[in-house]
Amino acid sequence: MGIIIGRKRRCSCSTPREDHHLLLLTFFVAILLQRAVVESSTLNYTRHRHTSTLRLERISKHLNKINKPPVLTIESPDGDLIDCVHKRKQLALDHPLLKNHKIQKMPTEMPKGMKVMRVEDDMEKVRVREKAWQMWHLNGTRCPKGTVPIRRSTVHDVMRAKSLYDFGKKRSRVDSLSRRNDAPDILSGNGHEHAIAYTGSSQEMYGAKATINVWDPSIQVINEFSLSQLWILSGSFDGTDLNSIEAGWQVSPELYGDSRPRLFTYWTSDSYRATGCYNLLCAGFIQTNSRIAIGAAISPVSSYDGNQYDITILIWKDPKVGNWWMSFGDNTLVGYWPAELFTHLADHATMVEWGGEVVNSRTNGQHTFTQMGSGHFAEDGFGKASYFRNLQTVDTDNNLSSVQGISTLAENTNCYDIKSYYSNEWGTYFYYGGPGNNPQCP
Ligand SMILES: *[C@@H]1O[C@H](CO)[C@@H](O)[C@H](O)[C@H]1NC(C)=O
Ligand SMILES: *[C@@H]1O[C@H](CO)[C@@H](O)[C@H](O)[C@H]1NC(C)=O
Ligand SMILES: *[C@@H]1O[C@H](CO)[C@@H](O)[C@H](O)[C@H]1NC(C)=O
Repeated sequence: MGIIIGRKRRCSCSTPREDHHLLLLTFFVAILLQRAVVESSTLNYTRHRHTSTLRLERISKHLNKINKPPVLTIESPDGDLIDCVHKRKQLALDHPLLKNHKIQKMPTEMPKGMKVMRVEDDMEKVRVREKAWQMWHLNGTRCPKGTVPIRRSTVHDVMRAKSLYDFGKKRSRVDSLSRRNDAPDILSGNGHEHAIAYTGSSQEMYGAKATINVWDPSIQVINEFSLSQLWILSGSFDGTDLNSIEAGWQVSPELYGDSRPRLFTYWTSDSYRATGCYNLLCAGFIQTNSRIAIGAAISPVSSYDGNQYDITILIWKDPKVGNWWMSFGDNTLVGYWPAELFTHLADHATMVEWGGEVVNSRTNGQHTFTQMGSGHFAEDGFGKASYFRNLQTVDTDNNLSSVQGISTLAENTNCYDIKSYYSNEWGTYFYYGGPGNNPQCP
């Protein structure tokens, strides 16, 4: 449901296909390489399994607060427990600013200019609609009407975090921020590395959309991550008032205890300090969908020179009510961030970014082997590099249109890079990613 499968779908403007035999050879070599990487990167969770009784008590108290009593629990084949929680019992409504919040069932308007599906798109969708795209759908049981599926947090999930305070948060990046003068205003430092595209910061923006293919990049050490997402931003990057709404897919062994790519969301209204969190790990995001679990694993994922699987995410501001809605696929509403959560974003966004981010913790004094995207550089193109396609933004009239004039940035193009293009079919799009450590990125 919602996922669009591009069966070797190929952008009309990508480079012509190489000789078939050469391609096949490259394919097998790639498989061998991938094996080697997987085998050498068995993550060590052991040292995160010991803790004091006092800490355990604090953890279980916190979990009691965030895991709401379910109407029904569904067990996913990957070990996740998906709790079906009554819509009006969800954690979001514990937020002090949402005491009298009335859940908005539907946005008052979708953005105008949503593409009418072409016939072949529709066919592809039909083919895939039968398929599960989140691992837990394989269970076969659905959440009952009036409930929302929520991935249950476990003691182990919290114990892998640096502290209870850090659980579910992008680790306080603020302390070592170095504001870059060469724009965009990304929060660099603390080993966070990016390959991103971004809009100019002078416009008022009310949303953004993109279609992103999903991979399973390998992660070198447990507290690193690799993610691919869009950011909707407002506020200052060198102050404490940055507002950000984020969504995409991520691999985070620390957060989830495995290396699967998962659908995620994030928000903050104070530069990643006290407010906000991933997914539904704190009060804030209000879920309305009974079929999509935020934080659940995505399956299947794209394979090198094989089938490409992508997800489409749209986030926009309800022009009448002011809440920031998220939809998945063509039109499936997931839920919304209430306007009350924000300061600057209560009004509008000033910048949108799309792309990848990894943490490089330089274990043993070397650049990390953690991959971004598919683990291949942008130059490798379709089927090999990861992509964001049909980049769009929503303007002050709630019109959705192809974004013009993006800039790109990667801190170290020998480790991860990005290349943007334009075509009729894919609009504004880019390839991005990389292997991390290699002879040019020691
Ligand atoms: C995992 O970490 C623990 C504690 O630091 C250590 O004792 C153990 O040898 C490590 N295991 C592997 C396979 O590296
Ligand atoms: C589905 O979830 C139920 C409830 O947790 C569990 O008893 C059952 O074994 C699961 N079925 C499958 C096929 O995973
Ligand atoms: C938004 O779309 C409407 C209808 O297509 C059009 O009349 C209007 O000029 C557009 N607004 C902007 C700012 O492009």
